[in-house]
Amino acid sequence: MSNPPTAAFVVVANRLPVDRVTLPGGRTAWRTSPGGLVSALKPVLQRNEGAWIGWHGAPAEELEPFVDDGLELVPVPLTHSEVEEYYEGFSNGTLWPLYHDVVAPPEFHREWWEAYVRVNRRFAQRAADVAERGGVVWVQDYQLQLVPAMLREMRPDLRIGFFLHIPFPPTELFQQMPWRRQILEGLLGADLVGFQHQGASQNFVRLVRQRVGHKTHRDTVYLPDGRLVTAGSFPISIDAESFEKLARDPATEQRADEIREELGAPKHVLLGIDRLDYTKGLRQRLRAFGELLAEGSIDLDDAVFVQVATPSRERVDQYKVLRDDIDRLVGRINGDVGRIGRVPITYLHSSYPKAEMAALYRAADIMVVTPLRDGMNLVAKEYVACRYDDQGALVLSEFAGAADELKQAYRVNPYDINGMKATLLQAMESPDREKSRRMRSMRKYVSEHDIDRWAKSFLDRLAGSETHHDKHPRP
Ligand code: G6P
Repeated sequence: MSNPPTAAFVVVANRLPVDRVTLPGGRTAWRTSPGGLVSALKPVLQRNEGAWIGWHGAPAEELEPFVDDGLELVPVPLTHSEVEEYYEGFSNGTLWPLYHDVVAPPEFHREWWEAYVRVNRRFAQRAADVAERGGVVWVQDYQLQLVPAMLREMRPDLRIGFFLHIPFPPTELFQQMPWRRQILEGLLGADLVGFQHQGASQNFVRLVRQRVGHKTHRDTVYLPDGRLVTAGSFPISIDAESFEKLARDPATEQRADEIREELGAPKHVLLGIDRLDYTKGLRQRLRAFGELLAEGSIDLDDAVFVQVATPSRERVDQYKVLRDDIDRLVGRINGDVGRIGRVPITYLHSSYPKAEMAALYRAADIMVVTPLRDGMNLVAKEYVACRYDDQGALVLSEFAGAADELKQAYRVNPYDINGMKATLLQAMESPDREKSRRMRSMRKYVSEHDIDRWAKSFLDRLAGSETHHDKHPRP
């Protein structure tokens, strides 16, 4: 591979913002990568000149650095077995379920861990090649927790930040991890370690004290070599302005009208948009809706549910099982309560461009976001940003990070199906005045706390944080 470009600001994430996919017939194409991380970070990098290091989504392929949509992209290759062991294995079969309250059982395999270490080192090396002297490197998410310490060893001149997009598990669960100390030490290579939630940040500092034995005070860790590491919470957000602009586009409004017509113009369109992931609470949500119809609490003529489930991690066993379960559940509900010309659940196993998502948000009276555990959930914020008319209602799980900020949502405990049914009914029956009061204040919050504010607050703190203490550490 030729020499990569150099940059003073470098983002390192498992994925590049674009994904190389093979189409039926064998041709390859680029498409936007799935997930909230990419949609949040892309505008940040577009506004701060820099380079983005990441995997391009296809195995066993070495690609040269390239420019896409104004972004300098530096691909990192993964072999077939690394995709299996590092990405599908340790990242998504071990860390993902462990960090999400073990809603699925995590698997611990030594070969997966070894691949994780090897691939983290490759990402760190790439960052060391690309970052200019004294530059800033911002490492993202659970797939790359060892990169900060590896990179610091290669390039002590850099400022290194790390941000975890997903929850950080409670101490009791984190302790299960056979390589818990290595992971904590990996993160401690950063000058600033950011989390979605204050509790996660405190948890991390406590674990460092207990497991690694470093001195800590409030959000600061004092390392024996004189370095300081700060932890903090930085709840992520969206490019609210661009979503609102898209929502106000007449073409979007026209598409939203079409969608409502095609659904039979019911009184209530309920909408879910998620990656097809077992953390998202799809089963519970669909069951609640199905029961409301079956018992006659809502009329089939009055309400339909549109569930978009974006394909995700399709070769991981638990995701295969989930897909079959959801197929069966949707089929059963539609078979039991549907009738000719009236399908209660429109289920779309597909991903859609941003414009179509905005039209769906505009078409939906009730947005149903009910994860069992979620670091933030940006879909909830996107919906709010698109409701410039202050109409619509957001039903939101109390286990999504977004619930800390979107306080006027209709809150649910997704494990409580009866409670969820009652809240869905409440949202459907609320007077317009009540709904718009709630929406207005959530919209104000999201437009004031957008992605630029998030990035600025993290990067300012990273630039301004003390990185060393005197010989005698406090306290
Ligand atoms: C979540 C994670 C991201 C990840 C995304 C999509 O948002 O926090 O790191 O990129 O899901 O998942 P995938 O496995 O397709 O990258």
